[in-house]
Amino acid sequence: MSFPSDIFARMFTDKNTQLLYPKEEVPSHDVEDIVQTNLFNVMLNRRSQRRFENRDVEEWKLEMIFAAADTAPTAGGFQGFEIYHIKNQEVKNKLVLAANNQPYVNAPVVLVFCMNPDRVKLNFPPETIRKFSQQDATLAAAYSQLAAHALGLSSIWIGMLDENRIREVLGTDLFPSSILCVGYPIKMLIPKPKRNLKDLIHEI
Ligand SMILES: Cc1cc2nc3c(=O)[nH]c(=O)nc-3n(C[C@H](O)[C@H](O)[C@H](O)COP(=O)(O)O)c2cc1C
Repeated sequence: MSFPSDIFARMFTDKNTQLLYPKEEVPSHDVEDIVQTNLFNVMLNRRSQRRFENRDVEEWKLEMIFAAADTAPTAGGFQGFEIYHIKNQEVKNKLVLAANNQPYVNAPVVLVFCMNPDRVKLNFPPETIRKFSQQDATLAAAYSQLAAHALGLSSIWIGMLDENRIREVLGTDLFPSSILCVGYPIKMLIPKPKRNLKDLIHEI
Protein backbone atom coordinates (compact mmCIF):
# COMPACT_ATOMS: atom_id res chain seq x y z
CA MET A 1 0.00 0.00 0.00
CA SER A 2 1.23 3.50 -0.78
CA PHE A 3 -0.09 6.88 -1.83
CA PRO A 4 -2.73 7.23 -4.58
CA SER A 5 -0.32 9.10 -6.84
CA ASP A 6 2.13 6.18 -6.70
CA ILE A 7 -0.58 3.64 -7.37
CA PHE A 8 -2.16 5.51 -10.28
CA ALA A 9 1.22 6.39 -11.79
CA ARG A 10 2.21 2.75 -11.71
CA MET A 11 -0.95 1.75 -13.50
CA PHE A 12 -0.57 4.40 -16.16
CA THR A 13 2.85 3.32 -17.36
CA ASP A 14 2.81 2.17 -20.98
CA LYS A 15 3.12 -1.46 -20.03
CA ASN A 16 0.11 -1.33 -17.77
CA THR A 17 -2.17 1.09 -19.53
CA GLN A 18 -4.12 -1.82 -20.95
CA LEU A 19 -4.95 -2.90 -17.41
CA LEU A 20 -7.22 0.11 -17.18
CA TYR A 21 -9.19 -1.28 -20.08
CA PRO A 22 -9.83 -4.80 -18.82
CA LYS A 23 -10.14 -7.41 -21.48
CA GLU A 24 -11.96 -9.99 -19.40
CA GLU A 25 -15.12 -11.27 -20.97
CA VAL A 26 -18.32 -10.02 -19.41
CA PRO A 27 -21.02 -12.67 -19.73
CA SER A 28 -24.26 -11.65 -21.45
CA HIS A 29 -22.82 -8.27 -21.94
CA ASP A 30 -24.57 -6.44 -24.71
CA VAL A 31 -23.17 -3.01 -24.18
CA GLU A 32 -20.08 -2.45 -26.25
CA ASP A 33 -17.17 -0.70 -24.69
CA ILE A 34 -18.89 -0.32 -21.33
CA VAL A 35 -15.69 -0.24 -19.37
CA GLN A 36 -13.88 2.98 -19.92
CA THR A 37 -11.84 5.17 -17.72
CA ASN A 38 -13.31 8.32 -19.15
CA LEU A 39 -15.02 9.74 -16.07
CA PHE A 40 -18.22 10.62 -17.87
CA ASN A 41 -18.51 7.18 -19.42
CA VAL A 42 -17.99 5.57 -16.05
CA MET A 43 -20.70 7.75 -14.53
CA LEU A 44 -23.10 7.06 -17.37
CA ASN A 45 -22.53 3.31 -17.37
CA ARG A 46 -22.46 2.61 -13.65
CA ARG A 47 -25.39 0.55 -12.50
CA SER A 48 -26.03 -1.02 -9.11
CA GLN A 49 -25.39 -4.75 -9.15
CA ARG A 50 -26.45 -7.27 -6.56
CA ARG A 51 -25.25 -10.50 -8.21
CA PHE A 52 -21.57 -11.16 -8.42
CA GLU A 53 -19.45 -13.90 -9.91
CA ASN A 54 -17.72 -16.13 -7.40
CA ARG A 55 -14.38 -14.71 -8.44
CA ASP A 56 -11.71 -12.80 -6.57
CA VAL A 57 -10.98 -9.21 -7.45
CA GLU A 58 -7.33 -8.67 -8.34
CA GLU A 59 -5.18 -7.00 -5.68
CA TRP A 60 -4.15 -4.22 -8.02
CA LYS A 61 -7.78 -3.33 -8.67
CA LEU A 62 -8.46 -3.26 -4.94
CA GLU A 63 -5.51 -0.98 -4.47
CA MET A 64 -6.89 1.36 -7.16
CA ILE A 65 -10.26 1.41 -5.39
CA PHE A 66 -8.61 2.31 -2.09
CA ALA A 67 -6.44 4.90 -3.77
CA ALA A 68 -9.55 6.48 -5.29
CA ALA A 69 -11.07 6.79 -1.80
CA ASP A 70 -7.90 8.43 -0.60
CA THR A 71 -8.19 11.13 -3.28
CA ALA A 72 -11.70 12.24 -2.27
CA PRO A 73 -12.19 15.75 -0.94
CA THR A 74 -12.68 15.89 2.84
CA ALA A 75 -13.58 18.57 5.34
CA GLY A 76 -10.45 20.61 6.03
CA GLY A 77 -8.45 17.88 4.29
CA PHE A 78 -8.54 15.87 7.52
CA GLN A 79 -9.88 12.69 5.95
CA GLY A 80 -12.42 11.96 8.65
CA PHE A 81 -13.15 8.42 7.56
CA GLU A 82 -11.82 4.88 7.77
CA ILE A 83 -12.36 1.87 5.52
CA TYR A 84 -12.79 -1.63 6.91
CA HIS A 85 -11.94 -4.24 4.29
CA ILE A 86 -13.80 -7.38 5.33
CA LYS A 87 -12.00 -10.53 4.28
CA ASN A 88 -13.25 -12.90 6.96
CA GLN A 89 -16.24 -14.99 5.82
CA GLU A 90 -17.80 -15.16 9.28
CA VAL A 91 -17.68 -11.39 9.58
CA LYS A 92 -19.29 -11.06 6.14
CA ASN A 93 -22.10 -13.36 7.27
CA LYS A 94 -22.66 -11.20 10.34
CA LEU A 95 -22.70 -8.07 8.20
CA VAL A 96 -25.46 -9.58 6.05
CA LEU A 97 -27.59 -9.85 9.19
CA ALA A 98 -26.62 -6.38 10.38
CA ALA A 99 -27.61 -4.98 6.98
CA ASN A 100 -31.24 -5.99 7.09
CA ASN A 101 -30.42 -9.50 5.91
CA GLN A 102 -29.40 -8.36 2.43
CA PRO A 103 -27.62 -11.45 1.05
CA TYR A 104 -25.53 -9.58 -1.53
CA VAL A 105 -23.54 -8.01 1.31
CA ASN A 106 -21.70 -11.31 1.14
CA ALA A 107 -19.83 -10.11 -1.95
CA PRO A 108 -16.26 -10.83 -3.11
CA VAL A 109 -15.18 -7.40 -1.81
CA VAL A 110 -16.91 -5.86 1.18
CA LEU A 111 -15.86 -2.41 2.34
CA VAL A 112 -17.38 -0.68 5.32
CA PHE A 113 -16.91 3.08 5.25
CA CYS A 114 -16.93 4.58 8.74
CA MET A 115 -16.94 8.13 10.00
CA ASN A 116 -13.96 9.17 12.10
CA PRO A 117 -14.81 12.60 13.51
CA ASP A 118 -11.73 12.55 15.76
CA ARG A 119 -9.58 13.11 12.69
CA VAL A 120 -11.40 16.34 11.84
CA LYS A 121 -9.40 18.96 13.72
CA LEU A 122 -11.64 21.92 13.07
CA ASN A 123 -12.97 24.28 15.70
CA PHE A 124 -16.68 23.68 15.08
CA PRO A 125 -19.46 22.20 17.21
CA PRO A 126 -19.46 18.38 17.51
CA GLU A 127 -22.62 18.09 15.33
CA THR A 128 -20.85 19.90 12.52
CA ILE A 129 -17.74 17.74 12.87
CA ARG A 130 -19.91 14.61 12.83
CA LYS A 131 -21.69 15.85 9.72
CA PHE A 132 -18.34 16.53 8.06
CA SER A 133 -17.05 13.05 8.83
CA GLN A 134 -20.27 11.55 7.48
CA GLN A 135 -19.79 13.49 4.26
CA ASP A 136 -16.10 12.49 4.14
CA ALA A 137 -17.01 8.80 4.45
CA THR A 138 -19.77 9.12 1.87
CA LEU A 139 -17.55 10.84 -0.67
CA ALA A 140 -14.80 8.29 -0.17
CA ALA A 141 -17.29 5.50 -0.83
CA ALA A 142 -18.61 7.28 -3.92
CA TYR A 143 -15.09 7.70 -5.31
CA SER A 144 -14.42 4.01 -4.67
CA GLN A 145 -17.67 3.07 -6.35
CA LEU A 146 -16.79 4.97 -9.51
CA ALA A 147 -13.26 3.55 -9.50
CA ALA A 148 -14.68 0.04 -9.22
CA HIS A 149 -16.80 0.60 -12.31
CA ALA A 150 -13.89 2.09 -14.23
CA LEU A 151 -12.07 -1.17 -13.52
CA GLY A 152 -14.78 -3.38 -15.03
CA LEU A 153 -16.31 -4.27 -11.67
CA SER A 154 -19.80 -3.64 -10.36
CA SER A 155 -21.04 -2.64 -6.95
CA ILE A 156 -23.94 -2.11 -4.65
CA TRP A 157 -24.11 0.63 -2.06
CA ILE A 158 -25.66 -0.50 1.21
CA GLY A 159 -27.18 2.21 3.34
CA MET A 160 -29.83 0.11 5.05
CA LEU A 161 -27.81 -1.01 8.01
CA ASP A 162 -28.02 -1.24 11.77
CA GLU A 163 -25.19 1.05 12.83
CA ASN A 164 -24.77 -0.42 16.29
CA ARG A 165 -24.77 -4.01 15.07
CA ILE A 166 -22.15 -3.14 12.47
CA ARG A 167 -20.01 -1.50 15.15
CA GLU A 168 -20.31 -4.60 17.25
CA VAL A 169 -19.40 -6.89 14.34
CA LEU A 170 -16.36 -4.75 13.45
CA GLY A 171 -15.37 -4.21 17.07
CA THR A 172 -15.14 -0.46 16.65
CA ASP A 173 -16.59 2.68 18.22
CA LEU A 174 -16.75 4.34 14.83
CA PHE A 175 -20.14 4.69 13.16
CA PRO A 176 -20.55 3.18 9.69
CA SER A 177 -21.95 5.35 6.94
CA SER A 178 -22.25 2.77 4.16
CA ILE A 179 -21.09 -0.61 2.96
CA LEU A 180 -19.80 -0.91 -0.59
CA CYS A 181 -20.01 -4.41 -2.04
CA VAL A 182 -17.93 -4.99 -5.13
CA GLY A 183 -17.27 -7.82 -7.52
CA TYR A 184 -17.41 -9.02 -11.09
CA PRO A 185 -20.99 -8.78 -12.31
CA ILE A 186 -22.78 -11.93 -13.39
CA LYS A 187 -24.39 -9.78 -16.01
CA MET A 188 -23.54 -6.19 -16.89
CA LEU A 189 -26.80 -4.31 -16.46
CA ILE A 190 -27.99 -1.36 -18.48
CA PRO A 191 -27.96 1.87 -16.46
CA LYS A 192 -31.26 2.98 -14.94
CA PRO A 193 -32.99 6.02 -16.39
CA LYS A 194 -32.36 9.18 -14.45
CA ARG A 195 -34.23 12.45 -14.03
CA ASN A 196 -34.40 15.01 -16.73
CA LEU A 197 -32.10 17.87 -15.82
CA LYS A 198 -34.92 20.36 -16.17
CA ASP A 199 -36.66 18.68 -13.21
CA LEU A 200 -33.49 18.42 -11.22
CA ILE A 201 -32.05 21.88 -11.48
CA HIS A 202 -33.79 24.71 -9.68
CA GLU A 203 -32.59 28.03 -10.86
CA ILE A 204 -33.08 30.85 -8.39
C1 LIG B 1 -27.72 6.23 0.33
C2 LIG B 1 -27.98 4.97 -0.43
C3 LIG B 1 -28.45 3.87 0.25
C4 LIG B 1 -28.67 2.67 -0.44
N1 LIG B 1 -28.99 1.57 0.27
C5 LIG B 1 -29.18 0.40 -0.39
C6 LIG B 1 -29.45 -0.79 0.34
O1 LIG B 1 -29.45 -0.82 1.57
N2 LIG B 1 -29.69 -1.91 -0.38
C7 LIG B 1 -29.65 -1.94 -1.75
O2 LIG B 1 -29.88 -3.01 -2.32
N3 LIG B 1 -29.36 -0.83 -2.46
C8 LIG B 1 -29.12 0.33 -1.81
N4 LIG B 1 -28.75 1.44 -2.52
C9 LIG B 1 -28.61 1.38 -3.99
C10 LIG B 1 -29.79 2.04 -4.68
O3 LIG B 1 -30.91 1.20 -4.59
C11 LIG B 1 -29.45 2.32 -6.16
O4 LIG B 1 -28.34 3.19 -6.19
C12 LIG B 1 -30.63 2.96 -6.86
O5 LIG B 1 -31.66 2.01 -7.05
C13 LIG B 1 -30.28 3.56 -8.20
O6 LIG B 1 -29.78 2.58 -9.07
P1 LIG B 1 -28.35 2.77 -9.75
O7 LIG B 1 -27.31 2.78 -8.63
O8 LIG B 1 -28.21 1.57 -10.64
O9 LIG B 1 -28.36 4.06 -10.48
C14 LIG B 1 -28.48 2.62 -1.84
C15 LIG B 1 -27.99 3.74 -2.51
C16 LIG B 1 -27.70 4.88 -1.80
C17 LIG B 1 -27.08 6.05 -2.53
